[in-house]
Amino acid sequence: MRNTSLYIFLAFFYFTNNLSIFTESAQPIASNNSTNFIKSSCRSTRYPTLCIKSLSSYATKIQQNETQLAQAAIQVTFNVAQSTTTFVSKLAKAKGIKPREFQAIKDCTNNMAGSLNQLSRSIVEMGRVAGQDLMRMDNVQTWISTALTAENTCLDGFSGDFMNGNIKVAVTRRVIYVSQITSNALALINRYAARHKAAATPS
Ligand SMILES: *[C@@H]1O[C@H](CO)[C@@H](O)[C@H](O)[C@H]1NC(C)=O
Ligand SMILES: *[C@@H]1O[C@H](CO)[C@@H](O)[C@H](O)[C@H]1NC(C)=O
Ligand SMILES: *[C@@H]1O[C@H](CO)[C@@H](O)[C@H](O)[C@H]1NC(C)=O
Repeated sequence: MRNTSLYIFLAFFYFTNNLSIFTESAQPIASNNSTNFIKSSCRSTRYPTLCIKSLSSYATKIQQNETQLAQAAIQVTFNVAQSTTTFVSKLAKAKGIKPREFQAIKDCTNNMAGSLNQLSRSIVEMGRVAGQDLMRMDNVQTWISTALTAENTCLDGFSGDFMNGNIKVAVTRRVIYVSQITSNALALINRYAARHKAAATPS
């Protein structure tokens, strides 16, 4: 009787001990999911918290696929740039707007439209890269960089003292936001290019 319970105890001890070893070694695999993939990829960006937040709704699509991540980063940037462009262009109709403010808003709307154009062709080009045409990565890098420059040019137009406080705050807050998202996308694209072009170049 005593012996039997001892054996049961020993068997139980042996089993649970092995089990705990099992779960420990299984943990890194269990946490290797798309959330952690996005987090670690975003570490290479200038605004990692914003990067993680803006890409998290694409987690299911991204999984742990670098190409999907790069595509999602450009798509997110395009979406934000589009709503920002709409917002800024509507401000041109604001009441009591001064001529210089009107001009700055017009210029910014043109810059943002240029940025949108660069981002939309980048989406198409990245689709071709995903189809294994890695040489087109140069275009994507150039165009997203041009989009970022256009956004910063808009911001320059609002740096003057002549600006009405409310309009200046409204525009700069939104354009800074889209420029940070664009900067993140550029970092992810550059990272993708560095990893994949090197692998595709015959040595
Ligand atoms: C991914 O793993 C982390 C733990 O490392 C967990 O907190 C998170 O909920 C997991 N996410 C998904 C989508 O499974
Ligand atoms: C986690 O995922 C990455 C790719 O996203 C892969 O390279 C790595 O081997 C995976 N690690 C484990 C422990 O499965
Ligand atoms: C990653 O996504 C790309 C683009 O959708 C696809 O062509 C590729 O097969 C995917 N890779 C893996 C390992 O699933």
